[in-house]
Order: sequence, then C-alpha cells, then structure tokens
Amino acid sequence: MRRPAWRLVLLCLVCGFCSLLYALTQRGGGSTEAQQPGAAAAVWRGALDGWQSSVRCKNCSVSFWNPYWMLPTGVCGKDCFWEAAFRYHRSEQHELDPDPMHLAVVACGERLEETITMLKSALLFSIKPLKFHIFAEDQLHIDFSTILNSWGYSEKFKYTIYPISFPSENAADWRKLFKPCASQRLFLPLILKDVDSLLYVDTDILFLRPVDDIWSFLKEFNSTQIAAMASEHEEPRIGWYNRFARHPYYGKTGVNSGVMLMNMTRIRRKHFKNDMTTVRLHWGEMLMPLLKKYKLNITWGDQDLLNIVFSHNPESLYVFPCQWNYRPDHCIYGSNCEGADDGIFILHGNRGVYHDNKQPAFRAVYEALHNFSFGDDIIHSLLHPLELELQKTEHTYCGRIHKLFTKQLTKSIDDFSKRQSNVR
Ligand SMILES: *[C@@H]1O[C@H](CO)[C@@H](O)[C@H](O)[C@H]1NC(C)=O
Ligand SMILES: *[C@@H]1O[C@H](CO)[C@@H](O)[C@H](O)[C@H]1NC(C)=O
Ligand SMILES: *[C@@H]1O[C@H](CO)[C@@H](O)[C@H](O)[C@H]1NC(C)=O
Ligand SMILES: *[C@@H]1O[C@H](CO)[C@@H](O)[C@H](O)[C@H]1NC(C)=O
Ligand SMILES: *[C@@H]1O[C@H](CO)[C@@H](O)[C@H](O)[C@H]1NC(C)=O
Repeated sequence: MRRPAWRLVLLCLVCGFCSLLYALTQRGGGSTEAQQPGAAAAVWRGALDGWQSSVRCKNCSVSFWNPYWMLPTGVCGKDCFWEAAFRYHRSEQHELDPDPMHLAVVACGERLEETITMLKSALLFSIKPLKFHIFAEDQLHIDFSTILNSWGYSEKFKYTIYPISFPSENAADWRKLFKPCASQRLFLPLILKDVDSLLYVDTDILFLRPVDDIWSFLKEFNSTQIAAMASEHEEPRIGWYNRFARHPYYGKTGVNSGVMLMNMTRIRRKHFKNDMTTVRLHWGEMLMPLLKKYKLNITWGDQDLLNIVFSHNPESLYVFPCQWNYRPDHCIYGSNCEGADDGIFILHGNRGVYHDNKQPAFRAVYEALHNFSFGDDIIHSLLHPLELELQKTEHTYCGRIHKLFTKQLTKSIDDFSKRQSNVR
C-alpha cells in the first residue's frame, strides 16, 4: 500500500521540478537551445538519482537547433527533452582537467562491445586526461555508463553520453545515409559548441599508441588546415574512389574518415568553397545542400560528403600517414603502407574483420584488447597471448607481417609499465 503513495509524491516532486525549470528557461530570454538547460539540470542533479527508472518517452531524438517549444510534437515533447537534458549531465560529477583530449564516437546497433574496446585502448596508453563524447542510441546508454563507471580511473577520463540527434528538417534523410547514425558525426562541430578540438573515431578503431601522439598533430596544422585524415588508399590500382566514385573526392585516392582529427573552432569559423553556389558557406549551411545534390551518387555516406568538401577546400586538410589509420586494405594484397614499417599506431578493422575470420591478424588484436581488463598484468594477459595468436595467422597476407601489429604496441606497453612503476 505504501508504494503508490510514494509514486504520487515522486510525481508531484517531478512536476515541481519541471515547472521550476521551465520558469528558469523562460527567464533566460527564451532563446535557450536544447543543449543549454543542462546547466539548470546540474543544480538538480543530486535530487535526480533514480530518474532513469521513470523515463516515459524512449524517442528522445532532440534537435539541437530548435528550442523545445518549436520541436515537432511527434518527435519529442517537453518531457522527453528534459529527460534527455538530465541524462547528459549524470556522469559529470567531478571537475575536468581544464584541457583534456576530446574523443568522440557514434555507436548504434550492435556496437557496444566494440566501442568499449576502442575506449579501453584509448585509456590504456594515453597520458593526458581524456574526455569521451559518446553518441549512442537510447537503449545503449545504461550499458555504457555501467561499464565506464566500473573502470575507476576517475582522474584520467570523464565521459558524456548523448542521444543521436539530427536537424529536425530532413532528419529522416540523414538517418538513412549509409549506416544508421553514421552521419551524426558531421554535426559534431555544431553540437559540441564549446569544444575547441576533437578526435572522432569509428567504433572499429584500436589505439596501439597514446592518443596524445595523434592529438599533437593539431599543433602542426598550418594556418589554413582545419582537419586531419589519412588517405583512403596508398595504392591507386586498388583505390575505390579513383575507380568508382561518381562525385568529387580529395587528392588521388580520397580520404578515409575513420580517424578524423578536427579543430572545430576553425571548422565553425570557415567559409567553405563549394560547387552549389558561388557564395562560400559555413559548415552548418553547407551540409544539407550537399546531401541533396549528391544523395543519389554517394556510396559511403558521410565519408563521401567529407571527400567532396575537402576536394573543394584542399588547403584545409592535413593528411597524416597510413600507420595512423591502418586497414586491411594495407595488407590484404601485400603490404602497401610504408610508414607501418615503424609499427602500426592506430588499427582500423573496417568491414567487420574483428568479428569474422577473414583477417585473423586484425581479429587477434581486437580479442586481446577485448579480453584484457584494467588491473590485469599487461604483459602476461595482453602482449603474450596476442603474440601467440598472431603466430597462428602467418598463412594470411596480413599475418605474414604480424610483427608490425605488435611493434608499436610493445613500445606502448613498455612506456605504460614505466609510468606505472614511477607512480608506485
Ligand atoms: C522517433 O521519432 C521519429 C520521428 O518522428 C520516427 O521516425 C522514429 O521512428 C521514432 N523512433 C522510435 C524508436 O519510435
Ligand atoms: C551523379 O552520377 C551521374 C552518373 O555518373 C553523373 O552524370 C552526375 O553528374 C552525378 N551527379 C552529380 C551531382 O555529380
Ligand atoms: C584551433 O584553432 C583555433 C583558431 O585558430 C586556435 O585558437 C586553437 O588554439 C586551435 N586549437 C588547437 C588545439 O590547436
Ligand atoms: C597548409 O598545408 C596545405 C597542405 O599541405 C597546403 O595546401 C596549404 O597551402 C598550406 N597553407 C598555408 C597557408 O601554407
Ligand atoms: C580471448 O579470449 C578467448 C575466450 O576466452 C580466447 O579463445 C582467445 O584465444 C583470447 N584471445 C586472445 C588474443 O587473448
């Protein structure tokens, strides 16, 4: 008998909060956007533990462009909006390092495990603190926070989980592009307005070297460069864009967007040359016309759009070498990434190779990191089992050069162990 009464009290409390918060935004001049009421939400954070159990609306795909009273009613009402806003701030319990490295990923569907393994590899070797921005479908939010909270290391990383959201105009078109959610990342400069620079990675990325090292490319940008990526191919004879693309692309073979470093301050400021109008356009103004124009001609979704953008603005791109985005294409027909002779720095298991048996060398690295838990002895539970597994892959082209898969990793593990013993 006591429980229904409890619920009634809770309901009243919740209604109270909502009207209070509503009043607060109204006082804020009415221009408050979906992102900002988080500040107000933070005040109530303490009182909101357990809020999640009362989520009423699963479809919280909030547009970041519209204040909530302008949202289409079908998409997400005011209540959902508030719930989404509260969720953003649940994990930010401590003050961040004033200058962390920002890492973003977009995870949909079955990508939870893979994303967690990527984040683990980022955290394992990095030196400066990290801030993770995780964009995920609603049903994955609780799993992400449960796992990340279990890691400890609260001084080394912070995270925020966001719902997937698109501009309300043409949201359906953006969702359909390539894979569900893939195009989310094009909007990161507009969504993460307060973040200066960001490393975006696909879920199938594994860091074999500190994030600090790729982050340091930001400082090497010349005055016109705003983003950095690796080429799609080293070998034009097997290149995709130069043989098949029906749209413009960057350079000789196009660029791969699986690892993309951005100075978002510069992306937000830049006026981009384009082939839609003679007027230069801002990032946010350019995306929709670009999608409309090329919708029928693009194959790889957001990566194609990025190729089109940088084909018209080549002076804005910094191209880093292939060992920073090493894919099966670099070894399945024989080794063609020269830079990887010094070791593979960032592994990119695209086309699902971590989960099937087509490229066992890639899969071995994934499984070794997947099997590893923080606190395990890194040499005996990560490096040695991996070396054993890799030896079994020597019958494949990629396995033949398996020493490259562990060359940098061995160094990173060495440095990691040294740092650990200094701490002790
Ligand atoms: C969420 O809302 C959008 C827009 O109305 C709709 O297309 C989509 O199917 C909804 N998703 C779910 C899970 O209900
Ligand atoms: C799309 O591809 C077709 C066929 O190759 C081509 O004729 C057309 O110009 C392309 N569209 C754009 C916008 O480039
Ligand atoms: C990004 O560019 C802005 C504007 O040029 C600059 O002030 C900022 O320092 C750059 N960020 C990094 C990390 O280099
Ligand atoms: C910056 O580097 C790019 C790529 O090498 C180049 O195209 C561009 O002209 C450079 N910008 C300046 C201002 O030197
Ligand atoms: C990871 O664990 C699985 C299951 O325990 C095992 O079969 C596999 O050999 C391990 N892989 C590596 C590389 O440690």
